[in-house]
Amino acid sequence: MHSKFLPSLVLLLIPHLVNAHYIFDKFFAENIQELKTNIRQPKVVDPLLDVTADDMRCNVNKGLASQTATIPAGSMVGFELDTVIFHPGPAAFYLGKIPEGETAATWDGSGPQWFKIAEWGGKYDPEMWDFEPLNVRKLNTTIPSSTPSGEYLLRVEQIGLLIPLEPQFYISCAQIKVVNGGDGVPASMVAIPGHIQPDDPGLLLDIYHPIAGTTYTVPGPTVWRE
Ligand SMILES: *[C@@H]1O[C@H](CO)[C@@H](O)[C@H](O)[C@H]1NC(C)=O
Repeated sequence: MHSKFLPSLVLLLIPHLVNAHYIFDKFFAENIQELKTNIRQPKVVDPLLDVTADDMRCNVNKGLASQTATIPAGSMVGFELDTVIFHPGPAAFYLGKIPEGETAATWDGSGPQWFKIAEWGGKYDPEMWDFEPLNVRKLNTTIPSSTPSGEYLLRVEQIGLLIPLEPQFYISCAQIKVVNGGDGVPASMVAIPGHIQPDDPGLLLDIYHPIAGTTYTVPGPTVWRE
């Protein structure tokens, strides 16, 4: 491309880039259609870029959430966005077990308290890597039925891989209280940050140059479901 075309191209792209982000701003469950007040609402639509920052826990928030939703173990929970997920990349849900002396409404998300309960990955496509969560407005899973009763943060993490070598993290946390739980022992518990290394192959994938025969592993610990 001749360089004299670049300025006008850049001007065309800027408004799009400014708006081209999203927030998981609503929670839903089997018994709850749409709830905003149990989500620690992110301050801005912009993604986080530093996987080693404390903000990776629950994003930069306007404040804590005013409500904690009661959810029976084994039932469905989900997040809805303010638009569709239009940045290709994986997604995962984590539960963060509230430590002694804290509640879902007070805990800052620190310590090795987090385990992954669901993930959405991608598969090879000769044109461009094909990611499951693309163009959806909602993601949901079930709370594993053996999850011990108690308060948790439910965290969604979607990773936009649109700019190679600059992964974007879209994160929200919902305050929940699991009831009718089981006696499972969640495994692969991790701290956040620390759950994903900056050089994780799942972050460094170049989605625009797919290599036949390769598979994709969603970053983070293995999923615990019992
Ligand atoms: C939950 O996820 C499944 C699988 O993606 C989907 O078929 C279903 O419609 C979702 N449910 C809701 C309420 O969004």
